[in-house]
This record gives sequence, C-alpha cells and structure tokens, in this order.
Amino acid sequence: MHVSTSILHAGEDREEYAGAVNPPIYHASLFTFPSMQAFLDRHQPSEKRYTYSRDANPTVRVLEQKMARLENADGCVATASGMGAITAAILSMLNAGDHALAVDSCYGPTRRFLDTMARRWGIETTFFPPTADDLSPWLRPNTRLVYLESPGSHSFHLQDLARLSAQARAHGAVTIADNSWATPLYQQPHQLGVDIVVHSGTKYIAGHSDLLLGLITANEPLLAQIRTVAIALGATLGPAEAYLALRGLRTLPLRLRQHEAHAQSVARWLEDHPKIKRVLYPGLPSFPRYELGRRQMSGYSSLFSIELQPPATPQQRHRFVDSLNLFSIGVSWGGYESLIIPLLTPDADVRALHGRLGLNDDCFRLCIGLEDAEDLIADLAQALTLYETSVA
Ligand SMILES: Cc1ncc(COP(=O)(O)O)c(C=O)c1O
Repeated sequence: MHVSTSILHAGEDREEYAGAVNPPIYHASLFTFPSMQAFLDRHQPSEKRYTYSRDANPTVRVLEQKMARLENADGCVATASGMGAITAAILSMLNAGDHALAVDSCYGPTRRFLDTMARRWGIETTFFPPTADDLSPWLRPNTRLVYLESPGSHSFHLQDLARLSAQARAHGAVTIADNSWATPLYQQPHQLGVDIVVHSGTKYIAGHSDLLLGLITANEPLLAQIRTVAIALGATLGPAEAYLALRGLRTLPLRLRQHEAHAQSVARWLEDHPKIKRVLYPGLPSFPRYELGRRQMSGYSSLFSIELQPPATPQQRHRFVDSLNLFSIGVSWGGYESLIIPLLTPDADVRALHGRLGLNDDCFRLCIGLEDAEDLIADLAQALTLYETSVA
C-alpha cells in the first residue's frame, strides 16, 4: 500500500466508533469493566480493552498504528513531546555504567540531557563529529547506544545511517535516530538498519504549530521496553493532542511536497544572491555529502540555514531580520508558516559547538512555510536589499 493511502486508512476501524469518519477523542482517563472477570482478563492479548489512558487510549492508539505503518516498525509509542520521546527512548536502552555515543550536531536539549541528567545517573556520553563514517575511535567495550540525527537541525550534517547502524550492531549497541527533519515520508531509518526512530511530531507531522507531540517507533523486543519506560515516566500523549496530530498527519504528503517545492525555489534563489555566502540545505547539489542524502532520503523538507556576507554588525543583523514581513521569528519549525531565527548565541559552549559545525554569528535558520514561494522570495529580496545598503 502506498504511503498516502496508509496515512488515511491504517489503524482505522470506523465500526468501532459508530461509523464516524474521524476517530473520536476518547476524553477518558479511565475505562471501566462490566464484570470482575472482564477486569481480571484485561491483560489477555485477545482482550481489546483499555484500562487507563496513561497506558493506552483508543485515539492515541490510532495515531500510533499509523505511525508504525509509516516507519515500517512493529509499533509506536506516542509521547507528550519530542523530548519525551527522546528521553524515554534513551533511558529504556541504558543502565548506570553504560557509555553512549551521540552525534555532535544533535538537538541541543538532547545533548544537555545526555551531558547532565544521564551523566548524573552514571551514563557517560561521547559526542562524535557528524562527518564520521567510522565510530571505532570512540567505541568502548561498554558502548550500548549510538544516537544519530540526520539531517541535524542547525548545520544539517548528514550521517550514513546504514553504515553507522551496522557498525553499532556489530559492537552490540543499539541505534536511535531522530527523523524529525525528513519525516517517514522522506527517510526510512528502520529500513537502513536503525533500531529506534524518534520524532518531534510537533514539527511537520502535526504541521500547524498547535500541539506538542513525540513519537517512538521500534520492533519487538525493544518496543516493549520503551513502552514500559514511557508509561513509567508518565509522558504519554493525551487524546486531544492525538486527534489534532491525526488531523495534521492526513495532509502530511501534500504539505511536505509543497514545503519541498517552495524550499527548493527559495534556497536556489538565495544561493545565487550576492549577499548570501552559503545556503546549508541538503536538497542543493552544493550541500556537503549531497550524494549520501540522495541515497538515503527520497525528498527534502524545508528547514535550512544561510550565512550572510560580508560579515555583519549586530545592527545590520537586526535590520535584516526585523525587515522581513512574512517570516516570523520563532524557534520551532514544520508548521505552515515561514520562520527565521539567528543562530548567534551568547552561550560559550554552544558557540564552541557552532565553531565545530562551521556556523557563525552571520548564520540564520529559515523554515519555509506554505506561503507562495514568489512572495517569500520578494520578502527576502527586500530585506537583503536593506542589508546591502546598510553594509555598503
Ligand atoms: C530535531 C529536533 N528533535 C527533537 C525536538 C524536540 O521536540 P519537542 O519540541 O516536540 O519536544 C526538536 C524541537 O525543536 C527538534 O528540532
């Protein structure tokens, strides 16, 4: 079955909810039982009953089943945010005394979690360069986890998912990959050998900047381990968010095609502009490791970074951003609206990281939304003209 069909039909059983086209929001913390025997039998695999919404909820279950189908995994655990998915996945795989490897370009809060809380619990993490194709220099006898994120969300570095997951497996370590940028429509990490896939569904999957959502997909027996930890942490998803996420998910293929087409137009236009030094977009042939991206992804979403030239003063950077009319200033991405953020930061550790990733104070991250691409280009053109006159 094609993906656009699975998105609409997987996990749906309309007869279960009076023929309603959309699964209703089961606004219930609790499910009751008609008899003591039914209660005692509730854990039998043949019983399709629900007990308590922290463990499972019918609306959430539809979303999980669709997502499992899209990522080609045995199952999915939906969580209250992307970070809920990431921390539950990591914690379900590691014990005190274990060592983890994580890509240096991973999402900042993921890095902070590994570097601070996980460290306090006796888990040590080494961050390896995102261009590494061989993990041998960093693998230790107790390395149990390799954490990947391809593309990253600031510098967009790619990792060879098949190669690194094969090496991790040979070492006895599991791999987790954050697939938020590409979505299951454009990248299938499980098919490339990755054990666990995590998503900030808050981004393209929900698609409307109106909810937080995390998703974890895996095969058994890892899936059961992950579900136990996610339930214990209590960070599972509520039914109202699941309903909104389902609503977003149904149009993901359409939205993503449009995001991609617009991002390609805007990125190509920016690449030719004299005031733009670099466009860091995995969809451009000029992008480092473009061929790897073509091999392991079937399309590109719409988040990328640019670098202005010549180097700007703080006032010029403010002028460029503040003169944009169609790009809101905001940290998230994947909604229908276009966004921009400066990548400059006063944080010394993040500045050092940015130095390693080739980013600097003249870099900005753009998310290309569903506005008309010509309008977005016209908006960027007038802001760059103002920037140009201010640097002249
Ligand atoms: C790449 C990436 N992964 C994970 C997350 C965390 O997701 P959430 O904000 O839904 O917790 C984000 C959020 O920005 C992200 O950009």
